[in-house]
Amino acid sequence: MSDITKLIRTIPNYPKDGIMFRDITTLLKDPKGFQTTINMLVEKYKNTDIDYIAGIEARGFILGAALAYALNKGFIPVRKKGKLPGKTITQSYDLEYGSDTIEIHEDSFASGSKILLIDDLIATGGTAIGAITLIEKAGGTIVETAFVVDLPELGGAKKIQNLGHKVFCLCS
Ligand code: PRP
Ligand code: HPA
Repeated sequence: MSDITKLIRTIPNYPKDGIMFRDITTLLKDPKGFQTTINMLVEKYKNTDIDYIAGIEARGFILGAALAYALNKGFIPVRKKGKLPGKTITQSYDLEYGSDTIEIHEDSFASGSKILLIDDLIATGGTAIGAITLIEKAGGTIVETAFVVDLPELGGAKKIQNLGHKVFCLCS
């Protein structure tokens, strides 16, 4: 397995003092790095029974759209509040540095659809748990959650596992 961690840079004190921000833009701009990242996710999920990939705004869109294309699945955007034109289901959540609200269209998928949730990074898990809640409220089944980066000291992956969901991370 190629070491993508070398392509992820750390920016201290962004967006607030004391936060060590793991920045994947350096991974995404590296053609081999981006391709390797998506290929590892394709290998992991190519034989899994999935109806849709749901990606969390904004960086989950980049990874989720590429993965959905590669797996020949539909893509569902989990968006920040106020961006979707149709009727939505909404969930607020706390972040490592603030709070936010995400939404999906209430008719995003048929009840019982099998959804793989993807984002670039899991920290406290607030965002991903908000997205899981939304998808389940809309009648979806979470097959698994996938992230490029886990920040284990913030405990998000554990929280998701404690809710009974699978978590897959490419690096930590
Ligand atoms: C980041 C990251 C995850 C979330 C992880 O997004 O892309 O979505 O935070 O943190 P958590 O596990 O503590 O919830 P951010 O809120 O910065 O939004 P952006 O992608 O729109 O910049
Ligand atoms: N990088 C990117 N997104 C984040 C981080 C980080 O270190 N922490 C919480 N969200």
